Amino acid sequence: MKVLVTGGAGYIGSVTAKALLDAGHEVCIFDSLELGHRAAIDPRAALIVGDLRNADEIERAMAQVAPAAVMHFAAYALVGESCQQPEKYFRNNVQGGLNLVEAMRRHKVPRIIFSSTCATYGQPEKLPITESTPQSPTNPYGQSKLMFEQILRWYGEIHGLRYICLRYFNACGASGTLGEDHQPETHLIPNVLRVALGQSPHVSIFGTDYKTPDGTCIRDYIHIEDLAAAHLAALTSDYTGAVNLGTGRGFSVLEIVEAARKVTGLEIPARFEPRRPGDPDELVADPSRAAEVLGWRARYTDPAAIIATAWQWHRQFPQGYAPVNK
Ligand code: UFG
Repeated sequence: MKVLVTGGAGYIGSVTAKALLDAGHEVCIFDSLELGHRAAIDPRAALIVGDLRNADEIERAMAQVAPAAVMHFAAYALVGESCQQPEKYFRNNVQGGLNLVEAMRRHKVPRIIFSSTCATYGQPEKLPITESTPQSPTNPYGQSKLMFEQILRWYGEIHGLRYICLRYFNACGASGTLGEDHQPETHLIPNVLRVALGQSPHVSIFGTDYKTPDGTCIRDYIHIEDLAAAHLAALTSDYTGAVNLGTGRGFSVLEIVEAARKVTGLEIPARFEPRRPGDPDELVADPSRAAEVLGWRARYTDPAAIIATAWQWHRQFPQGYAPVNK
């Protein structure tokens, strides 16, 4: 199948693009390279440098590529930044998304797989989180992703667009030469490994008074190769709607730091700090719908195994993709 992958130079998009190519699909990446990395693009993929906020750029790309499906990863994804600059998130993630589906409609592209997030649920009342858990985002990032999900629902009803919203829990780990390199880096596992590399004196643990057994936040950590496999399954599925992608098991911040100490054999000093605004106590997926409709299940369920893949990548590329990047 010919697939247009927006954000295919990013962390999850690049791993999925490679998985698509390995499975024999044809891939064209549409990426602004503002945050994506040229070095993360598989040489077998075509690249169109463009920005979804410019309607004519995605319109031209859609006409040129004429894909059978779109996988949509391109977005801003920093919760904290979204609380300071909400317009940036609505413009890129919502208006850019609208430009994308409009170009799809005009060029009769029938299906889209969308990178959504468990941040659309906000602070859930009941765990684990199913797809029918009420969606009530606690920040503009989650809201922008929910708004695009809603746009897809109406394009489905009115224009017959087939879509799957994949709601990722905490994406992590690395795959061969592809890994996590965000500027700035806010995610737990790369921050912990930066300490192990000696690039930072300690890791900050944000909040120790959450309603969890050890007081630190609990998350469901899902390996990017598992996410990529779910995208491939979604591409050939007839299902339309939302699907959670997680392992169904949660681990606290302290458990992750401890697992990283075991994997690296290093001390990794930690410092307790105040809560980071907007962090829910616990987010864990009920992944049963993914098993039912996609035949998908996470293969990595042990955080130590996930961290080991990330550790290998960070040791091999201590400066990330720089300086071969742009
Ligand atoms: N944390 C620390 N220290 C750090 C970094 C993070 O203690 O240096 C804590 C956070 O406070 C949180 C947990 O580790 O409790 C996980 O934080 P991440 O930033 O790694 O991940 P989040 O759960 O905040 O966010 C991720 C994605 C978002 C997505 C969200 C859904 O980054 O895009 O999951 O919950 F929306």
